[in-house]
Amino acid sequence: MSTLDDAKIIGSVYEVSNSGISVILNDDVIIKPMAYGNTYKVGQIGSYVVMPESDRSIIATVVACSDMGAREGHPGKRSLQVKALGTLQTGRFERGLSALPVIGSQVYMTDDADLRAIFATYRGSNFSLGVLSNFDQERLYLDPNKFFSKHIAVFGSTGSGKSSTVASILQKVQHFDNTHVVMLDMHGEYAPAFRESGNVLNITDLELPYWLMNFEELV
Ligand SMILES: Nc1ncnc2c1ncn2[C@@H]1O[C@H](COP(=O)(O)OP(=O)(O)O)[C@@H](O)[C@H]1O
Ligand SMILES: [Mg+2]
Repeated sequence: MSTLDDAKIIGSVYEVSNSGISVILNDDVIIKPMAYGNTYKVGQIGSYVVMPESDRSIIATVVACSDMGAREGHPGKRSLQVKALGTLQTGRFERGLSALPVIGSQVYMTDDADLRAIFATYRGSNFSLGVLSNFDQERLYLDPNKFFSKHIAVFGSTGSGKSSTVASILQKVQHFDNTHVVMLDMHGEYAPAFRESGNVLNITDLELPYWLMNFEELV
């Protein structure tokens, strides 16, 4: 089933602003069973929708969902707030948009094949940090050149897996050509992860030339 198949239409765009895109859902759409034996929960926060825009498709993620009449006691018309992420053109996903969808644009739900296409862009790089939280059959691949040309910090509470994440990233990187990584391992925790591939130096074995030190370090 192609991305823009009529059976996947869930609603249409009714408002577009700098802060987001609003979609009014068709009346018959709440939970629509789809191909591949999956049930697609339309409007689930974090799910993806597609909107055609000239020769490409805008990919957006659902950030809010509401029943517009429920507060006045006549529930029925449901709306979604979606945030555009990028465009899909000939099977390639690009972050960012040059044009937003126009009012009245049809909005399509995404199935596994669409999501695979969206997230396939950097599959060739063979650099992946994990699976998508809302689509756990799909690994998320990144462009390593872009990833490592920025500063990176790994945050989390103690025991949440920061050190393991860093070790895993660097283990992947060492398989790329011409990569050299120098790691300052203050707590001596990374040696087991790089025993086979790395050159682990111990500070006590390190000989520093005297001209590198200042007077206090020398005496
Ligand atoms: N992705 C993961 N899956 C399962 N267990 C993990 C994962 N990442 C880390 N762990 C385990 O969680 C524990 C804490 O991980 P660690 O990387 O030392 O956390 P942190 O550096 O954030 O304190 C370790 O026992 C580690 O084996
Ligand atoms: Mg740690």
